[in-house]
Amino acid sequence: LANADNSKRDNKVLSIAHRGAAGYAPENTMAAFEKAFEMKAEMLELDVQMSKDGELVVMHDTTVDRTTDGAGKVKNLTYDELKRLDAGSYFSKEFAGEKIPKLEEVLDEYRGKMGIVIEMKSPSLYPGIEQKIADTLKERNLDTPTNNDIIVQSFDHESLKAFHSILPEVPVAVLLDFNPDGVSDQQLTEFSSFAKYVNPNKTMIDKKLVERIHKYGMETYPWDVRERESVKALIKAGVDGVITIYPDYVGKHQKKE
Ligand code: G3P
Ligand code: CA
Repeated sequence: LANADNSKRDNKVLSIAHRGAAGYAPENTMAAFEKAFEMKAEMLELDVQMSKDGELVVMHDTTVDRTTDGAGKVKNLTYDELKRLDAGSYFSKEFAGEKIPKLEEVLDEYRGKMGIVIEMKSPSLYPGIEQKIADTLKERNLDTPTNNDIIVQSFDHESLKAFHSILPEVPVAVLLDFNPDGVSDQQLTEFSSFAKYVNPNKTMIDKKLVERIHKYGMETYPWDVRERESVKALIKAGVDGVITIYPDYVGKHQKKE
């Protein structure tokens, strides 16, 4: 049973579960990814960082303080130390004992079932993380874009370029924070030289920006969508997917031509 069946999702606005279905379960845990699968999300979004001993772990913040019962920077803790932490109780007692997953565990569990958007989070803290992610994908034959199942994204565009030069066949997505100046044609030209997606904060999106991104040959999955109304507005603006902690809000909508 796969949510990531490309023949079915062609032309559908994709539901992409932000840090998993993080509105319903602790972010970036197997529980949140499983919820996303049950809710028929086509893709997962997750954040990757590196432990002191070089393991790729799924974690949003650069410290474990907010989402676990531990303290300290991810990069100063070994994988053995990280895996002992409770990454579920901060959300609710029901999820006590959820663990910080390794990237490879999520890939092995969900490849072929859902697409996976891997965010390189603060990659400048982790020299060599691009190569490590590339190796992890290659070992699993996930380095060819047969059906758009794996996307690598980052706010750090230099890191994206580095990843793209290692594995040019895996599509990359440029993340953009809100910027009152919008996105220039010069930027879109530059992004289109290495990226397949431009994923801005949802507040940047209007019909015109979506049309410009498409004109430059790219697609767009805006993020941080938390209200049903804003999902509707984004779909109306013509986006290709929505990155949301409530993946059940997206529903079935054909993309605009
Ligand atoms: O998918 C984009 C989004 O995840 C970026 O924001 O802070 O949730 O990683 P953040
Ligand atoms: Ca993210």
